[in-house]
Amino acid sequence: MIFVGNDIVEIERINTFIQNHKIKELAHVFTQTEIQYCQSKTSPSTHFAGRFAAKEAVKKALLSAFPDLVLPINSISIKNKDNGAPYVVFEHNASIQNKSLQVSISHSVSHATAVAILEI
Ligand SMILES: CC(C)(COP(=O)(O)OP(=O)(O)OC[C@H]1O[C@@H](n2cnc3c(N)ncnc32)[C@H](O)[C@@H]1OP(=O)(O)O)[C@@H](O)C(=O)NCCC(=O)NCCS
Repeated sequence: MIFVGNDIVEIERINTFIQNHKIKELAHVFTQTEIQYCQSKTSPSTHFAGRFAAKEAVKKALLSAFPDLVLPINSISIKNKDNGAPYVVFEHNASIQNKSLQVSISHSVSHATAVAILEI
């Protein structure tokens, strides 16, 4: 079966969150890899927003399939291949590590959006 999740995030809302939180607090939401990736970009908020949308999309796809799953948002890590394509790694939950899960991210000036597709 195929399960889908999506999300859209206002970049300004994420920008406010980032401005008001220290790195240690950001770690409740984003992994170190994600923080490093986003901060290497000219517009970090845009990429943080894309990652946040991707995490929420992944949660929606997984919760559609497994309604009782407990999945902290910072356990979902969005990484990028050398060509820039995003992929998902679960930091603490080996049981869902081998699920077939694809994610796609897009940004505009004001919003970031993501779609996740889970096949089980
Ligand atoms: C990949 C591509 C379609 C992205 O489209 P875009 O309109 O520029 O940007 P969007 O805002 O819609 O999407 C950006 C997201 O696309 C994703 N992305 C980047 N490269 C990708 C790829 N090769 N495949 C799939 N997704 C990709 C990333 O998640 C990125 O967000 P992130 O950096 O925060 O993770 C576009 O850059 C492209 O056609 N690239 C062709 C290859 C290229 O030019 N490569 C240059 C770098 S090697």
